[in-house]
Amino acid sequence: MENKCRAKITGIGMYLPEKVITNKHLEASVDTSDEWIRSRTGIEERRVVEEGVTCSDLGARAALMAMEHAMVTSQDIDLIIVATLTPDMVWPSTACLIQEKIGANNAAAYDLSAGCTGFIYALATATQFVETGFYKNVLVIGAEVMSKIVNWEDRNTCILFGDGAGAVVLQPSQDSTGILANYLGSDGRGAHLLKQPAGGSSLPPTYQTIDDKLHTIYMNGNEVFKFAVRVMGEASLKVLEIAGVDKEEVDLLIPHQANMRIVESAIKRLNLSPEKVVVNLNKYGNMSSASIPVALYEAYMNQKICEGQKILLVGFGAGLTWGATLIQW
Ligand code: UT7
Repeated sequence: MENKCRAKITGIGMYLPEKVITNKHLEASVDTSDEWIRSRTGIEERRVVEEGVTCSDLGARAALMAMEHAMVTSQDIDLIIVATLTPDMVWPSTACLIQEKIGANNAAAYDLSAGCTGFIYALATATQFVETGFYKNVLVIGAEVMSKIVNWEDRNTCILFGDGAGAVVLQPSQDSTGILANYLGSDGRGAHLLKQPAGGSSLPPTYQTIDDKLHTIYMNGNEVFKFAVRVMGEASLKVLEIAGVDKEEVDLLIPHQANMRIVESAIKRLNLSPEKVVVNLNKYGNMSSASIPVALYEAYMNQKICEGQKILLVGFGAGLTWGATLIQW
């Protein structure tokens, strides 16, 4: 580890659609209330795309911002990894579609499917390429248009999700800063707790699957909640253990933004004071794999991130999957 070159985030970007859907808006379409949504989730509003705007549109804008911040050109990019569960199409990959939009003609590009843990998975994958010297400029993007796969008549799920994209550029570090450790986990026995049942090869689209709304999100909320509370703490402690860092040394926690009660459980497990935790789910809801990079961007812009800090990213999601990254900023 000592001689290995670390991978470092040198640019961050994000893009959020302008259209806001408040809890009050949802009260008009499903049997819910602003009070219920706020108290059970912490969400107040979310962003959604206009008709015709795609996942690759959001991802490309976040990517361009991250590249500008890192001062790299599109020709410099060696690899694009896109974490998403709402790709423009089943195939080709959204990474290739973003590649075309940003003109990164020298890059390899692929998508990665790990539910809401997607950004952590993509970051861990990119880390390996940079640490080994295989690639020098890697774009890692989390982009989602959850509004396109939400059943807007299902109050159990439609209140939760939002659209957005975040991106980072990963490069070799010139010093001891950068990604200290990654930890990934999955348990396929929970695959059916959270899914989009139709549209793939097991249930190709038919009139029946559309009538049955099988192309929208299915979730067993209670089971996912229990799983999330368990793994958010466990994954955080595990990545700290891998890096040989005490939990008291964590300066900032950037958790997946799904539910405030899940975030609070992680805060408790790590014994952190709330000022050390980045929360934006009140404004954006759960943006799946975009939630962590958008929160990272906002923390950076709000000067919550400074040199020398140890920053912990942790997430969970469909698969079931979970993961954490520890960064020396
Ligand atoms: O990124 C990963 C994605 N998924 C998640 O992170 C979700 C994890 N799970 C959760 O966040 C929570 O389980 C939910 C927010 C989805 C639900 O909260 P809960 O406290 O677990 O509520 P519940 O499912 O136990 O439902 C309690 C009651 C039920 O009514 P009854 O059966 O007690 O009469 C639900 O039908 O609340 C009802 N309910 C609602 N009421 C008003 C469910 N959704 C709503 C709603 N408005 N939107």
